[in-house]
Amino acid sequence: MSSLPYELSARVQSVAGIDPELRPATKPQFGHFQSNVALRLAKSEGQPPRAVAQRIVAALEVDDLCEPLEIAGPGFINFRLRADVLARAVTDQLAEPAAGVQRTETPQTVVIDYSAPNVAKQMHVGHLRSSIIGDCLRRVLLALGHRVIAQNHVGDWGTQFGMLVEQILEDGIDASTLTLVDAEALYLRANAHFKGDEDFAARARARVVRLQSGDEETRTIWRQLIEISEAGFNAAYARLNVLLTDDDLAGESTYNDDLPNVVADLEASGTAVVDDGALVVFVEGFNAPMIVRKRDGGFGYAATDLAAVRRRVGQFHANRLIYVVGAPQSFHFDQVFAVARKAGFLPADVPAQHVAFGQVLGPDGKKFSTREGTAVNLMTLLDAAEEQAAPPIALAAIKYADLSNGLNKDYVFDVDRMVQTTGNTGPYLQYAHARLAQVLRRAESEGLVVEEKIAVLDEPAEQALALLLTRFGEVVADVADTLQPHRLCGYLYDVAGALSVFYEQCPVLKSDGEVRASRLALCTLTKKVLADGLDMLGIEALDRM
Ligand code: ARG
Repeated sequence: MSSLPYELSARVQSVAGIDPELRPATKPQFGHFQSNVALRLAKSEGQPPRAVAQRIVAALEVDDLCEPLEIAGPGFINFRLRADVLARAVTDQLAEPAAGVQRTETPQTVVIDYSAPNVAKQMHVGHLRSSIIGDCLRRVLLALGHRVIAQNHVGDWGTQFGMLVEQILEDGIDASTLTLVDAEALYLRANAHFKGDEDFAARARARVVRLQSGDEETRTIWRQLIEISEAGFNAAYARLNVLLTDDDLAGESTYNDDLPNVVADLEASGTAVVDDGALVVFVEGFNAPMIVRKRDGGFGYAATDLAAVRRRVGQFHANRLIYVVGAPQSFHFDQVFAVARKAGFLPADVPAQHVAFGQVLGPDGKKFSTREGTAVNLMTLLDAAEEQAAPPIALAAIKYADLSNGLNKDYVFDVDRMVQTTGNTGPYLQYAHARLAQVLRRAESEGLVVEEKIAVLDEPAEQALALLLTRFGEVVADVADTLQPHRLCGYLYDVAGALSVFYEQCPVLKSDGEVRASRLALCTLTKKVLADGLDMLGIEALDRM
């Protein structure tokens, strides 16, 4: 079932021949929607706009949906949905378990690559954003009935492990006893040591070779570093209330054994060539080739990602690949996708999408960093928000601030603003939900049965709310298509806004009979839409605040 506005728009289009671009009416007296389609057609039809409008109105069969149509001003067509039709639509929606979100008839296997922090380092704001955005997309796709395979492409491999292991051995540390915070301190120490001490640097490089060749002692320490890091990540995920678990882990090292096969494929197809001792792929439109294997024989970040694409398509049978990673990696992903297509790892009918996001800026509008100049870590942000509000509210504030902006935009981390219960914030939506819960609780305590039927829907404020609610399913489907969570945020914010107008103009508990029953049922549906929508954003819908 498509929503009423959608159905109406399709019928007008079939008569007018072009998209009627139905716009919400600016004033209640203009009905619910207006279209300027007649004005746009007038020229090509060589007729005055009002005449075109008259022709369209005469040919349109929408009596089952609308009150008699009106032509206004220079030739606008005004549409007013019939109250009984609207009432039936929201009553039906209330009876649906998913409140109008339709499960897809063509479920896909979608791989979402998100979070992906690096071993021996705390998660920073970039990983926070990736975790929050990726988790939202995961929840949206799941709600629509897709099969989602989350892949946490943790940075657990690379030359940095040479210096880490070497430093651990030198200091005589038992790596299994470290916390993630200790590991990060160790990382900084090892890095400084590497830069300042030639001998140490040479040993660290030799250590990388031992790690790669599978040396027992080296691998044991490496594994311990991974374990303590993952424990730290899991603590962060629990605090963030994201869906990620150990089942989703597929770090860079997952692909080690497969890299020689990837290379063999690339060479056999002639995709990769040896250039100055390195194995590279040239793709049109890129100013630099992709380096698959360095001159020293080591594989880089790009090789791992090629192997990952190959596995996700070949073994997981993915129909769609999504990568939630910061905007600075756009070139990397464009190139990985192009090379993967060229190599035949990524068929033309499998889209690969980089959901790139901007930076989190400090209150001064500059790159968010600590006084020491290092990236702010995620725990610090959560702590800061929790100084202002209880944990579920603080978390809602952070997640909503992150999701409600266009992803590509940088946004300012302004704790004071984002914990407000007014304005376009997460806590405001939680508050709207809690207030509905309170109304329904009170109805129950007054012995009122909340019926499942919306029979009366006469007031403009309740019609406006009902009309918005009917759009829920479309908005969720749109987020799955466009991968733009801010559209769901904007929608829920509109719902909360329409709800407050409704409260102002339509008494609920103080009304009577069928009107009260209908309004209570409308409250139930609004609460359900807010709760499910917030859940898709990864935000807890609270019953009390
Ligand atoms: N670990 C990387 C980083 O912190 C992000 C990895 C993203 N995923 C991928 N498949 N490359 O920058």
